[in-house]
Amino acid sequence: MRAILVALTAVSAALAATTSLKPAPVSPLQGVQALVKRRIPKHANDFTFQLVNGTGDSFLVSDTKGHSGGVTVQCTTVSACSRGLYTYLTQIGGVDIWWTGSRLDQLPSRLPAVGKPINGSSIVPWRYHFNTVTFSYTTAFWGFDKWELLLDWLALRGVNLPLAWVGNEYILIQVFKEAGLSDAEISDFLSGPAFQAWNRFGNIQGSWGGALPVQWVEDQFALQKQIVKRMVDLGMTPVLPSFTGFVPKALQSHYPNASIVIGSQWSGFPTSLTNDSFLNPFDPLFTKLQTSFISKQAKAYGNISHIYTLDQYNENDPASGDLDYLRNVTAGTYASLRAADPQAVWLMQGWLFFSSEDFWTNERVEAYLSGVPAENMIVLDLYTESQPQWNRTNNYFGKNWVWCELHDYGGNQGFEGNLEVLTQGPIAALTSPNSTMKGIGLTMEGQEGNEIVYDILLDQAWSSTPLNVSTYVKNWVSRRYNVKSLPAAATQAWSTLASTVYNNTNTGSEATIKSILELTPATSGLVNRTGHHPTLIPYDTDTSIVPAFQLLLNASSQNPALRTNPEFLNDIVDISRQLLANRFIDAYLSLIATWNSTTTTARSLTLAGETLLDILGDLDAVLATNPNFLVSTWIHDARQWASTTTGSGSNTANVKVNQTYAAYLEYNARNQLTLWGPNGEINDYASKQWAGLVGQYYAERWATFVRYLADARKSTGDNSAYNATEIKARLLGLGKEWDTRIWGNKTRGETWGTTGDALTLAQGVFDTWA
Ligand SMILES: *[C@@H]1O[C@H](CO)[C@@H](O)[C@H](O)[C@H]1NC(C)=O
Ligand SMILES: *[C@@H]1O[C@H](CO)[C@@H](O)[C@H](O)[C@H]1NC(C)=O
Ligand SMILES: *[C@@H]1O[C@H](CO)[C@@H](O)[C@H](O)[C@H]1NC(C)=O
Ligand SMILES: *[C@@H]1O[C@H](CO)[C@@H](O)[C@H](O)[C@H]1NC(C)=O
Ligand SMILES: *[C@@H]1O[C@H](CO)[C@@H](O)[C@H](O)[C@H]1NC(C)=O
Ligand SMILES: *[C@@H]1O[C@H](CO)[C@@H](O)[C@H](O)[C@H]1NC(C)=O
Ligand SMILES: *[C@@H]1O[C@H](CO)[C@@H](O)[C@H](O)[C@H]1NC(C)=O
Ligand SMILES: *[C@@H]1O[C@H](CO)[C@@H](O)[C@H](O)[C@H]1NC(C)=O
Ligand SMILES: *[C@@H]1O[C@H](CO)[C@@H](O)[C@H](O)[C@H]1NC(C)=O
Ligand SMILES: *[C@@H]1O[C@H](CO)[C@@H](O)[C@H](O)[C@H]1NC(C)=O
Ligand SMILES: *[C@@H]1O[C@H](CO)[C@@H](O)[C@H](O)[C@H]1NC(C)=O
Ligand SMILES: *[C@@H]1O[C@H](CO)[C@@H](O)[C@H](O)[C@H]1NC(C)=O
Repeated sequence: MRAILVALTAVSAALAATTSLKPAPVSPLQGVQALVKRRIPKHANDFTFQLVNGTGDSFLVSDTKGHSGGVTVQCTTVSACSRGLYTYLTQIGGVDIWWTGSRLDQLPSRLPAVGKPINGSSIVPWRYHFNTVTFSYTTAFWGFDKWELLLDWLALRGVNLPLAWVGNEYILIQVFKEAGLSDAEISDFLSGPAFQAWNRFGNIQGSWGGALPVQWVEDQFALQKQIVKRMVDLGMTPVLPSFTGFVPKALQSHYPNASIVIGSQWSGFPTSLTNDSFLNPFDPLFTKLQTSFISKQAKAYGNISHIYTLDQYNENDPASGDLDYLRNVTAGTYASLRAADPQAVWLMQGWLFFSSEDFWTNERVEAYLSGVPAENMIVLDLYTESQPQWNRTNNYFGKNWVWCELHDYGGNQGFEGNLEVLTQGPIAALTSPNSTMKGIGLTMEGQEGNEIVYDILLDQAWSSTPLNVSTYVKNWVSRRYNVKSLPAAATQAWSTLASTVYNNTNTGSEATIKSILELTPATSGLVNRTGHHPTLIPYDTDTSIVPAFQLLLNASSQNPALRTNPEFLNDIVDISRQLLANRFIDAYLSLIATWNSTTTTARSLTLAGETLLDILGDLDAVLATNPNFLVSTWIHDARQWASTTTGSGSNTANVKVNQTYAAYLEYNARNQLTLWGPNGEINDYASKQWAGLVGQYYAERWATFVRYLADARKSTGDNSAYNATEIKARLLGLGKEWDTRIWGNKTRGETWGTTGDALTLAQGVFDTWA
């Protein structure tokens, strides 16, 4: 209970605080009112919000007395008001806001009555969002327009604890400068715009493709001011960065006595780009830098939060496994936080306890966590839906923890989920003996599709009993495809998916399924991978994807309004994508069977290879119809930071592009999707099925591979000429070349924006490949 009180105090403190960014708000509910104005302008005056006394986050929605067509939401917190509004919009209004856009403006012009008042309350004090790496895999290049949509999405769903990493480097640079480091010494440490998450984690240091430009650092800082202000306005407590201990190499020469250790090598990166220097937290310099960081940050954003994100050993094992050392590290780190902010609460991702389970024995976990008082730490049990650690660590030895869904690696897009686990798991954990669970949250690496598995978990945070999955799915579909008379076929399509792809109980394949078409071609090792980045398809395509696809197509001919519904179009492209990705496996196996049979000819290899290339061509075409599946969207977002607009008004505005900077940003954007490192260190980790990437890069790789097989067969008549090292090097070279391209080459047919009609192409995909 004490922990809950601490938590709630932090929220009220955040709300009450006057920040240096703005005068104190007239009402704490102004932010929710502004959300209504932004998303549902025609009803700007129809919603009344009132804060009332009460514990926890609760709301009551009712018809406004004396204002016909008016709705009143009473709430105990701003976040509860926002959730109350969402409950009205979704349950009574039948509309929603999605990653693909807000459809809240489709609310009827006369608001439907509430009737019997609806109440609700959160079962946990915290609803959390983001993984540190989401800031690189999804939002790396976002401008405020995209942020605004996501923040509204979060606020309405009741999230009150979002991570807020943007602009971190601006503060960090000031701290290092104050400590006496030169610009060059600091620059040597910082990583590029697409890779900042892993620099923040201490996995990598430095940049490939050029040093981090000052302009990026400044623009991101300006963006962060907008983001955290909006978070606070919407009743959220931003989880802010802090000084972690990772420092430029040169710090040691400035402070020869400082206790600095060298962290471990990460993912095969060369030493110059990893093995980060780590200042031991019990060194007095650590506290000095922490105080410097937190005071500069508070000055920049105001007194808006006391919760800090701080990860020191994410995929990076401690210099020593000695229990005293581990205790020392946390005790020193916590003392530094408290010296800088007497109310500091430390939030950490618990991924390390799973990913380095061999190192992190229970004894070591306990020693490490023991350096901080129980109520002042929040551990994100990062992958609870599949690999919970809270149950092996006695509820993190009494620390507060959050039930989190990881689900997605690197923004990979394969359909996958387990709705039963997401509804039953949190309730079981919360009601288990000695539970210290205090939150429910989303920690996906990237936000790419499968939106239902994220929605259902955030909704579960407002229900003390497990949600009924089949009812949930029906309601979800009917507001997602918000058309008059939704054909039953659309609901049936989703019921089919819910009981197949979203009822995955295969413990080897519990994350978004990676498609082998996105992997570097090879004669073996691609199919049926399990674990991290599974390629094993844990369902039968013919009894799941195929019938669901057919039902969606039927629905669109029964009600043509679906043909212009943005979420329907998104989903029809997504299911076409999944069918083609799965059929690609069959085509690949057939190519390999042809290769294995040494009686087949080079010509038969070329023919077998054509099927693979046909699939990639069809896939690229259907993806190209939708803005959510374009590599050009990602590249555009990256390049936008190199544009400056001068003058004012549409006539005088003059957009200037710094081409050097734009090319640098584009390289970062492309490299993350492909080689992920200067030399393919974690090649294809963040692969995507996006038009442009599929039609060019993946297609060029597979075409090269097929040619290689055919040439090898031709040269010797058997398989002896196949040299895995040689073809791998050739494909890596192709990746390096692709990464330096500039989008927009007309000869390659590169366009910005969409082309083609989704339903015509989807029908073609179904007819050919189902
Ligand atoms: C809410 O609680 C405060 C402090 O206990 C009290 O002063 C105030 O009158 C209460 N307001 C309502 C509407 O009950
Ligand atoms: C709603 O109000 C009823 C009656 O006061 C109460 O029994 C119920 O627990 C409330 N439900 C929630 C979710 O707060
Ligand atoms: C480093 O430690 C040595 C030995 O304790 C001391 O003589 C020296 O002054 C220290 N140097 C700095 C820069 O603090
Ligand atoms: C723990 O920290 C103290 C300084 O506070 C240091 O003297 C000691 O060596 C550290 N112990 C270990 C095991 O690292
Ligand atoms: C924790 O829960 C998971 C999922 O239910 C289970 O697989 C695992 O065995 C449990 N671990 C312990 C130590 O009970
Ligand atoms: C809960 O805590 C009590 C007291 O510390 C302990 O005896 C009991 O074993 C714990 N139960 C579980 C399931 O951990
Ligand atoms: C999901 O799978 C479980 C176990 O196989 C089964 O009991 C349950 O009915 C399935 N749920 C749905 C919605 O099909
Ligand atoms: C992959 O796994 C599936 C299901 O377990 C199995 O039917 C199939 O034969 C496997 N394919 C290969 C190429 O190993
Ligand atoms: C091809 O041959 C390899 C090596 O003998 C074997 O492991 C693999 O299963 C074969 N693949 C197919 C698709 O026939
Ligand atoms: C263009 O960008 C590059 C790389 O960030 C930078 O060095 C250069 O100063 C910029 N040029 C102008 C004119 O701003
Ligand atoms: C395979 O290719 C690599 C790189 O081109 C080369 O160094 C090696 O000698 C080749 N191996 C064989 C057996 O030809
Ligand atoms: C455009 O693409 C064509 C075809 O791949 C290529 O030959 C040409 O060099 C490209 N031009 C530029 C400027 O990249």
